Amino acid sequence: MMAGENAPRRLSIFGSTGSIGQNTLDVIEQLGGRKSYEISVVTGNANVELLAHQAKSAGARLAVTASDERYHALKAELSGSGIAVAAGASGLAEAADLEADWVMAAIVGTAGLAPTLAAARKGATIALANKECLVSAGDLFVDAVAKGGGRLIPVDSEHSAIFQSLDEGQRHAVERIILTASGGPFRTWSRADMANVTAATARAHPNWSMGLKISVGSASMFNKALEMIEAKHLFGVRPDQIEVIVHPQSIIHSMVGYTDGSIIAQLGCPDMRTAIGYALDYPHRPKLNVERLDFAKLSRLDFEAPDEERFPALRLARTALERGGLQGAIMNAAEEIAFHAFVEERIGFLAMADIAEAVMDKMIATGEAKTMDDVFAADAEARRLAAELVALNEKAA
Ligand SMILES: NC(=O)c1ccc[n+]([C@@H]2O[C@H](COP(=O)([O-])OP(=O)(O)OC[C@H]3O[C@@H](n4cnc5c(N)ncnc54)[C@H](OP(=O)(O)O)[C@@H]3O)[C@@H](O)[C@H]2O)c1
Repeated sequence: MMAGENAPRRLSIFGSTGSIGQNTLDVIEQLGGRKSYEISVVTGNANVELLAHQAKSAGARLAVTASDERYHALKAELSGSGIAVAAGASGLAEAADLEADWVMAAIVGTAGLAPTLAAARKGATIALANKECLVSAGDLFVDAVAKGGGRLIPVDSEHSAIFQSLDEGQRHAVERIILTASGGPFRTWSRADMANVTAATARAHPNWSMGLKISVGSASMFNKALEMIEAKHLFGVRPDQIEVIVHPQSIIHSMVGYTDGSIIAQLGCPDMRTAIGYALDYPHRPKLNVERLDFAKLSRLDFEAPDEERFPALRLARTALERGGLQGAIMNAAEEIAFHAFVEERIGFLAMADIAEAVMDKMIATGEAKTMDDVFAADAEARRLAAELVALNEKAA
């Protein structure tokens, strides 16, 4: 059904106050607003004022803050509006339980896993921005979506590009997928130069405007590392079929290589609204008011091999892919702890990868992920070990 053709598509937005969430609401306005989309739920965390404003202007049935302490503030903001309010983990569970055809999964980090998984089990189609769901839970998450009867549509620009470039009938002829990476603000920097950078410098992405975690992840290339693991689970390819190429202009969003030597790519100006619109209006291609690519003004497109010495996160992703099992969940959890420590100026930029690698090695004997409990246990243990290493690192500094 095309949104707007018959009944409006019921949509829940997990993480509506973030960068993807705000762009999602902008796209919904462009696609006809309430005529095309009925918003079931909006969720946020700290930004209660914006959440309340979004809930009112989108006409949501429920607004949820993940923060228990902010429940009363949100309740006060929405008093008299008729919009239900909830908070904390139980509030997110309530959000996942509300009927929705489509869920925009745009909470940052592993915090997004439980509500997205619950919504997938109920059969919603998942527009997936939260790559951590796949990095941590991998095939368990993919199976939950399939068993629920919905489907996964990637929102990450790279994975959206691959999704768009995959010729459905020709999956057997896919030879490789090529993820492009801008290289981030430190693309040409030496490790010595990177040693003392602050979060403010690291978050200044040259091309994309994004949330803090993904911006710092683009600088360290941990974001690309997560995307490599995300790609394996989304597209069912072997690790050796996943390539990364640095493309500083971020015009080619990613590519698929076929057995006849052809490459099919998706291009566009760097604007997340294109990938969001594609995921929300799937299987149709919406009309969007975004900047058009002007080839006459593009003087060049550059490409270079990624440097895994200066950006060890890429090497860690390969290790996680080769080791399999819970190593993706472990890498992701350790990196989340190290990321927060870096942003709080407790550790340096380069220590993030050192800590993730040390935790992956310490937990090398962790078995397979048979159930979600295995995933949550490995995640918790990786966080505990990473926190210990952060403390040791602080002492040594
Ligand atoms: N931004 C992009 O362009 C982009 C592109 C591709 C993929 N992604 C992926 O999309 C996801 C979201 O990224 P973003 O850049 O939009 O992040 P963001 O701007 O930091 O927004 C994150 C959202 O999650 C909420 N949140 C924060 N902590 C939470 C918690 N503990 N529990 C529940 N909700 C929490 C935030 O609420 P408050 O703001 O109210 O605190 C906000 O709504 C990430 O997985 C990212 O990798 C983003």
